[in-house]
This record gives sequence, structure tokens and C-alpha cells, in this order.
Amino acid sequence: MADNGNLLIGFGTETGNSELLAMDAHEKASSMGIESKCACLDEIESSDLMEAGYLIIVCSTWGDGEQPDNAQDLYDAVEELGDDDLSGVEFAVLALGDTAFDLFCEAGIQWDEVLESKGGKRFYDRIDCDTDYEDEAEEWIDAVLEQISS
Ligand SMILES: Cc1cc2nc3c(=O)[nH]c(=O)nc-3n(C[C@H](O)[C@H](O)[C@H](O)COP(=O)(O)O)c2cc1C
Repeated sequence: MADNGNLLIGFGTETGNSELLAMDAHEKASSMGIESKCACLDEIESSDLMEAGYLIIVCSTWGDGEQPDNAQDLYDAVEELGDDDLSGVEFAVLALGDTAFDLFCEAGIQWDEVLESKGGKRFYDRIDCDTDYEDEAEEWIDAVLEQISS
């Protein structure tokens, strides 16, 4: 990452799993010398996303394939952006879900798609995590941060 001072980590959550992972990514980034900001998606404006060099979204799925309550407004706002508005943003999505549901990790899939459709560049492939997510989520976070710092 040429300028690693602009990593935004946003989480959408109902019961805190995504928040814990996002906080962990934030702390790991700090220990690697990558400056980052970590916030709930309901504290982030679409204009904040447009200014992010790197963006990591950590988001669970609720209801019947729906966004968590605290992710819905920003998701709706991003859908309204122009096709190139996120052209300066490199993003990666960590989706949490449960394979017991038909629409497994649907909210994370939606984020992955909408960020790309608004011009964002996927710098690391999305991971869709089942309920036993800890190890693979941590490995994914490590690999993503390595990519940012390289
Ligand atoms: C009522 C309820 C509805 C859920 N709906 C889905 C769903 O549609 N698709 C899915 O993949 N996971 C679904 N999940 C699983 C959650 O996404 C999963 O437990 C996740 O780890 C929660 O993360 P969070 O604490 O960050 O919200 C649901 C869980 C509950 C309790």
C-alpha cells in the first residue's frame, strides 16, 4: 500500500460477531503500522466510503437474507451512488452467516456486488463464513492486511 493511512473497517452486526472481527482487524492493522478507522456502518456516510483508499466490510446476514439494522441505511445510500463514485476505493468483504439459512451470507454478497458496481476494486476475494468462523476469518484478515501492507 503506497499510502497506508486510509483504511476504513466497517462492520454491520446484530449480536456483535462482526464487530469483534472488525475490532480485531483494526488492532492487527495498527500492530502492522497500518493506520485504520473502525466504525459501525451506521456511523459511516457514503462520502466516507468515497474517501477511503482501502475498505474492509465485515457484515452478517439477518432475517431472511437481510442486512443487519445498522447496515441497511448505508447500503441503501451506496446503492444510490453513481457508477464511478467508488472508483478510488479498494475493497474486501468478510461475510458472516449460517449455512442453515437459504440465503447464506446474502448481506455480505450484496455488499461485495454493490461496491463493485459503484466502481470499487475488489483487492481481495470475499469470504463467506459459517457459524464456526473464527479461524478462517482470522486467516482472511491476516491475508488481507498483508496485501494492504505489501
Ligand atoms: C434470526 C436470525 C436470522 C439469520 N438469518 C441469516 C440468513 O438469512 N443468512 C445467513 O447466512 N445467516 C443468517 N443468520 C446467522 C447470522 O448471520 C450469524 O449468526 C452471524 O454470525 C451473526 O453475526 P453478528 O453477531 O455480527 O450479527 C441469522 C441468525 C439469526 C439469529
